[in-house]
Amino acid sequence: MLLANDNWKIPPVHPSISKEQVHVWCACLEQRESRIQQLESILSDEEQCRAQRFYFQKDRDHFIVARGVLRDILCRYLNRQAEQLNFCYNEYGKPMLAKNFGGLSFNVSHSGNVAIYAVTCGREVGIDVEQIRADFAEEPIAKRFFSPAEVAVFSDLAAHEKKEAFFCCWTRKEAFIKATGKGVSFGLDNFDVSLAPDKPAALLSVKGDKKEAARWSLRNLDIQPDYKAALAVKGHDWRLQSWQWQSVEKNTAFTKETNMSNSDFLLNSKLIEKRQA
Ligand SMILES: CC(C)(COP(=O)(O)OP(=O)(O)OC[C@H]1O[C@@H](n2cnc3c(N)ncnc32)[C@H](O)[C@@H]1OP(=O)(O)O)[C@@H](O)C(=O)NCCC(=O)NCCS
Repeated sequence: MLLANDNWKIPPVHPSISKEQVHVWCACLEQRESRIQQLESILSDEEQCRAQRFYFQKDRDHFIVARGVLRDILCRYLNRQAEQLNFCYNEYGKPMLAKNFGGLSFNVSHSGNVAIYAVTCGREVGIDVEQIRADFAEEPIAKRFFSPAEVAVFSDLAAHEKKEAFFCCWTRKEAFIKATGKGVSFGLDNFDVSLAPDKPAALLSVKGDKKEAARWSLRNLDIQPDYKAALAVKGHDWRLQSWQWQSVEKNTAFTKETNMSNSDFLLNSKLIEKRQA
């Protein structure tokens, strides 16, 4: 997958993370058949059932890749096998690792052919990516979903600024409500984000409270020209690192014995086990 800039590095096989770091990973949802099978083999029974419920093959495959890559990423930090990870969900559907997997927190978003993941330790984090669609009617959707303050800024923008500002606002809002874990139940008009092209990404107010907003960081993420993405993190004392998730052949971190990365080795051995069963 071609990323818009070279900030997205090849990660070590087993990256480590602390509370002062946030790692963002980017993966392509379009993978070849054998890779999809490998990723499917590390999903839980419940995830495999969920995959089967998709009507279209493409949606099924994208779900398998997004969830399989999530497992692959998390197991690299935890030094566990991908299929050993257990997820639980809060009452709004946010997936989290079960308590016995330490303080690792994460969030996922997918759109078009892209999945992005935020990983950190002991912090609230939310991430969102949206593919920019040319035929999208921004104005009525902004009026319906944005806060009154955001609609006022949006309405004053020049026509040529509106598409970009719309998707900046949308992804920033989504990243924040996902970081809180409440999703849309948080109330999309309960908080304001910046959206004008000349303003940095920021949470401006939460239920009228600027101090609460100042406790959060919002960042834009550059992926590809036709995508917008944003990251919301509680606190400011952290550094961002961006990794690109790679398929086996492209990963430079190979184990000596197998000529394969550790995580790909885990994926492959699980697939072989499954075929032999
Ligand atoms: C579900 C929701 C959290 C995100 O939905 P989305 O933007 O359509 O989808 P994304 O790809 O960004 O995120 C989906 C992932 O978020 C995670 N997620 C689900 N519920 C979540 C929650 N309450 N909090 C955080 N993350 C959540 C899951 O990992 C999910 O992936 P999965 O379905 O493969 O398990 C929610 O915000 C929603 O329904 N949004 C609707 C869109 C909308 O109206 N936006 C208005 C913006 S102005």
